[in-house]
Amino acid sequence: MIEFQNVHKTYRVAGKDIPALHPTSLRVENGQVFGLIGHSGAGKSTLLRLINRLEEPSGGQITVDGEEVTALDANGLRRFRQQVGMIFQHFNLLASKTVADNVALPLTLAGELSRKDIDLRVAELLARVGLSDHARKYPAQLSGGQKQRVGIARALATKPKILLCDEATSALDPQTTASVLQLLARDQPRTQADHSC
Ligand SMILES: Nc1ncnc2c1ncn2[C@@H]1O[C@H](COP(=O)(O)OP(=O)(O)O)[C@@H](O)[C@H]1O
Ligand SMILES: [Mg+2]
Repeated sequence: MIEFQNVHKTYRVAGKDIPALHPTSLRVENGQVFGLIGHSGAGKSTLLRLINRLEEPSGGQITVDGEEVTALDANGLRRFRQQVGMIFQHFNLLASKTVADNVALPLTLAGELSRKDIDLRVAELLARVGLSDHARKYPAQLSGGQKQRVGIARALATKPKILLCDEATSALDPQTTASVLQLLARDQPRTQADHSC
């Protein structure tokens, strides 16, 4: 599902090269849950963000489900990103949009569903993450765990093949962490055939 061939990344800041990822080759199979472990600054986020080209690689080849991601133009990249959901450590919700509108955003941007179908899909996603009663609230009115549930619903909105999780629970307390992990684990087996995480 995901293949890296000699992918490397160096950031350039104020004329100085900052090596973030040494040449790396790896393979993640379809349905596999693949974890990256390393100390702070090891390059975990960089590697993750290279998969959907939130960061551009300095070299090497990235292939996802047979498609060479490193060769995509802007249009191809927009289409490709609909197949990749992402959950962030600090949720990255839009403060000025309601819970429902945050979840609807990837569907609105994709432009493939009618307003009515988007509303139906959002309702289904919010039910799945246990937030049906919070649809009209704003992110500031939610707990950390609830915010991350919105993040998960948003990440799953376009039925992605891959779910990228960048420390999805490290901003949460242990109990909330357990419930968010349960939610992700519950989702995983049901969609085993078309999800990597
Ligand atoms: N946007 C950036 N610009 C410059 N340097 C960066 C940037 N993002 C990360 N780095 C540097 O790249 C290295 C790897 O960072 P990162 O991938 O965030 O590590 P991790 O997620 O494992 O903590 C670090 O030295 C970090 O300072
Ligand atoms: Mg990180």
